[in-house]
Amino acid sequence: MINIGIIGYGYWGPNLVRNFAETPGAAVAAVADLDTAKLELVQRRFPAVKTTTDFRDLIADPSIDAIAVATPVSSHFELGMAALKAGKHLWVEKPMTETSYQAQKLVDEAERRGRVLIVDHTFIYTGAVRKMGDIIKSEELGRVYYYDSIRVNLGLFQRDVSVISDLAVHDFSILDYLLDEHPAAVSASGINHFPGTPENLAYITLFYDSGTIAHANVSWLAPVKVRQILIGGSNKMIVYDDLEPSEKIKVYDKGVSFTDDPQQIQEMRVGYRTGDMWAPQLAVTEALRVESDHFVDCIEHGKVPETDGHLGVRVVELIEAATSSMRGKGETVYIKRQGKAA
Ligand SMILES: NC(=O)c1ccc[n+]([C@@H]2O[C@H](COP(=O)([O-])OP(=O)(O)OC[C@H]3O[C@@H](n4cnc5c(N)ncnc54)[C@H](O)[C@@H]3O)[C@@H](O)[C@H]2O)c1
Repeated sequence: MINIGIIGYGYWGPNLVRNFAETPGAAVAAVADLDTAKLELVQRRFPAVKTTTDFRDLIADPSIDAIAVATPVSSHFELGMAALKAGKHLWVEKPMTETSYQAQKLVDEAERRGRVLIVDHTFIYTGAVRKMGDIIKSEELGRVYYYDSIRVNLGLFQRDVSVISDLAVHDFSILDYLLDEHPAAVSASGINHFPGTPENLAYITLFYDSGTIAHANVSWLAPVKVRQILIGGSNKMIVYDDLEPSEKIKVYDKGVSFTDDPQQIQEMRVGYRTGDMWAPQLAVTEALRVESDHFVDCIEHGKVPETDGHLGVRVVELIEAATSSMRGKGETVYIKRQGKAA
């Protein structure tokens, strides 16, 4: 049995506690939060779970094997490093840390101590993203021309991070999962409409050497909630609407072809193809449950998580690059990392 201690019981922490409580092979041993009102909620719902306002009680408890950090991003590094140094396995919320330097330090510490480090990029464990990955990897879509995401709503304004860290982070992890390559450059623009607060709206473009282009429009200031991704391939195209209760993914057999026949060059050179649409069956298990099972399996069998620390570092690097471009009013920022290798 893997005993888990969870730090942070705000908006997201309760989802972790609920899922780990239902995960075979895992037990929620204790929850830490600075706010005693939050801890009362834990006690009412999970009377057997210990609670404390001091995260060090969890770190010092030898019966706890793994720590999950679900606090604001600014504290991920300190709490995660303390957990690893005490020999615990670590689950850390997205984005992994404030800086890629800190993220790399956590990776190094986990590797030195042989501990499992998973970063909660939840979307990678959804049936929808996995299905899109299967479709792209099977080459059914053909060459990926573009990825176009809208992720907007009247969102919870964060005090410590911009909308890029809060929302575009999902697109960065999904793209990392779907595509074999890493972006070569990024250009972003964004704005904070309220002085002294982080940017609440941003448009981010990622450029890939293969010619794929990706764009994400993220905002906490939209009147309606939209969670939609279009992926255009040379053979087929995907529409992914995460708010659809069923049929989240639709695959369209649509596209265009150009003739390079010199005889026809003056004529209409574009051929349009409009075929069928199909909505594939998707796995319906809650993503966090898939992920908590996976975390326990990695600990028990010494496996590397699908969303490991190296992915966490790559995502934080993209947040840094996009933020730097945004502060430079859209100037192109080249990504130093070549490919996805660690
Ligand atoms: N994976 C996802 O899809 C997803 C979704 C939402 C949030 N998150 C991530 O989860 C993390 C938390 O976000 P949230 O929206 O729940 O924040 P929140 O502010 O609602 O909750 C954070 C909680 O942590 C507690 N806390 C802060 N510092 C602490 C400390 N040192 N010791 C103990 N408790 C402490 C606070 O009292 C608060 O209750 C963030 O990293 C966020 O990006 C991930």
